Amino acid sequence: MIHTDAIAAGLGTSVIGKKIMHFHETDSTNTRALFLARGGAAEGTVVLADRQTAGRGRMNREWHSPGGTGIYLSIILTPRAPLNSLPGITLVAAVAAAEALESAAGVRADIKWPNDLLLNNRKICGILTELHARDDGAAIVIVGIGINVNTPAERFPAEVRDIASSLLIETGRETSREEIVISLLERFERRYEMFIFGRFDAILDRWREYSGIIGRRVCIEQDGVRTLGTVVDIDMGGALVILNISGSRQMILSGDITYI
Ligand code: BTN
Repeated sequence: MIHTDAIAAGLGTSVIGKKIMHFHETDSTNTRALFLARGGAAEGTVVLADRQTAGRGRMNREWHSPGGTGIYLSIILTPRAPLNSLPGITLVAAVAAAEALESAAGVRADIKWPNDLLLNNRKICGILTELHARDDGAAIVIVGIGINVNTPAERFPAEVRDIASSLLIETGRETSREEIVISLLERFERRYEMFIFGRFDAILDRWREYSGIIGRRVCIEQDGVRTLGTVVDIDMGGALVILNISGSRQMILSGDITYI
């Protein structure tokens, strides 16, 4: 079981994770967090589970969440920021996760747009940011982060073993989940503060450093439509800017990306 006492004792944040709600098992921490947020849970409340029975990924995919080996958490946010800037919080989370993995596990993961973290080209972390409105119209943002930490290969379903991995598989050693959670929440708080204070440019700079995507040739699949091109940049809204094969600049807001 993940030790929330150790997390609380080591955590140096002022808002994020000041309250941690720990569940031995839940359907999805994102679902649980939304329920708590609608009931008035404070900004920064973290929902943490040892195991999820219905972990969700982007595009209605399943997030495989075996017990005792991974990190499954959701952060409740009620940002006072323009609605159209809120998708940028996913990039805040991706940078925070990459920084946490570097400081707590000593690995340098690559951010794959928009929000996957890869080690040796295999996914070890995914982020699902969901936007909702409270009854009074205020925004609720749930940032769900899943990290495969000490998961051995045989605990992944066969169909994802080629694309999914864990820190254990890639480094050959176990890492403390508590230390990663502490580092993740501390980094997230710092980066989220920058986001709220309008310093998204600095977050994008960090994102670019971890992503290595600028200049790569890519294929992006979006609702069955494929776009080929070369990545030129990521813009202030978190959209990917590509030069497509007809030579026009195109903004990509969502989709599945493959390096070609
Ligand atoms: C993705 O890569 O598609 C996103 C995966 C996000 C998984 C995390 S685990 C904690 C939180 N609860 C969920 O149900 N999903 C997110």
